[in-house]
Amino acid sequence: MARTFVSREIFPEYIEKIEEETDAEVWKDELPPPRDTLLEKVRGIDGLLCLLTDGIDGELMDAAGRQLRVISQIAVGYNNIDIPEATRRGIPVGYTPEALTQTTADATLALMLTAGRRVTESERAVRAGKWRTWHPLHYLGQDLYGATLGIIGMGRIGLEVAKRGLGFDMKILYYDIAPREDLEADYPLTFVDLDTLLRESDFVSLHTVLDESTHHLISDDAFSKMKSNAVLVNAARGPIVDPAALHRALTGGQIAAAGLDVTDPEPIPMDDPLLTLDNCVIVPHIASASVATRREMSRISATNLLNGVRGERLLTCVNPEVYDR
Ligand code: GLV
Repeated sequence: MARTFVSREIFPEYIEKIEEETDAEVWKDELPPPRDTLLEKVRGIDGLLCLLTDGIDGELMDAAGRQLRVISQIAVGYNNIDIPEATRRGIPVGYTPEALTQTTADATLALMLTAGRRVTESERAVRAGKWRTWHPLHYLGQDLYGATLGIIGMGRIGLEVAKRGLGFDMKILYYDIAPREDLEADYPLTFVDLDTLLRESDFVSLHTVLDESTHHLISDDAFSKMKSNAVLVNAARGPIVDPAALHRALTGGQIAAAGLDVTDPEPIPMDDPLLTLDNCVIVPHIASASVATRREMSRISATNLLNGVRGERLLTCVNPEVYDR
């Protein structure tokens, strides 16, 4: 029987499937296995189901051994995995792209509304007994309706955020490595350069991958171009934003607010100065966390794992070139 390691609990019906078909070990702790433990647990396995909190590199693939046939990640992002290294070894890497697109786009709108309309700040005030009257000048925020939404990264999630923005009568600008003429044929989206997007957008929403080209893409220079009423939303990866520059922008009035589903590092340390700011909404990387979506992500990642150990093609593979050999 093939051996597998599952680095965290997923929906139980899919754990059962994995246990029926393989000799599986499931890491049941809430927190990720420490590095040394992970290196030990993967020794001799045929398949690994992992999370974005697990560092999957050449050292780990060596520790697993040459029989390792599949790495199945339960996430759409895979910056924690050394993909070229997996590809070099002919190991397919699974991920869960389509499953979470809509849910993540919903969460992005939630952050835009929450940060823009000061929902968490004013809710905290209610609980602290500070709701003393209706006041014409209290808790004034930013409208989504009619505002300009700048989307950085017009992929699957970016497009779904744009469609939701159109429902709020927003004007949609986007920036990516190339214009998406295929999408512009169907939706009123305007491709602009990054500077134009930053200068003209009331909401700036990040939907790019994290790599060398996007690391600290939003830094002091970017904030200096943004509108003072602008709201920045990041439901992509924390390191796309320079956190010190974000703090300066939020305290210096360079932008109005930020909504973060992701931080750098994660979890955000309790002494991080961003946690002291009322105009910074921070939630713990929950953009794909709906019941239905996490169930579907469990199904896809379990299927990818089992297909991989059987030597069958994965449903969704980051590096399908491994099949060309
Ligand atoms: C979550 O961040 C994911 O990449 O799925």
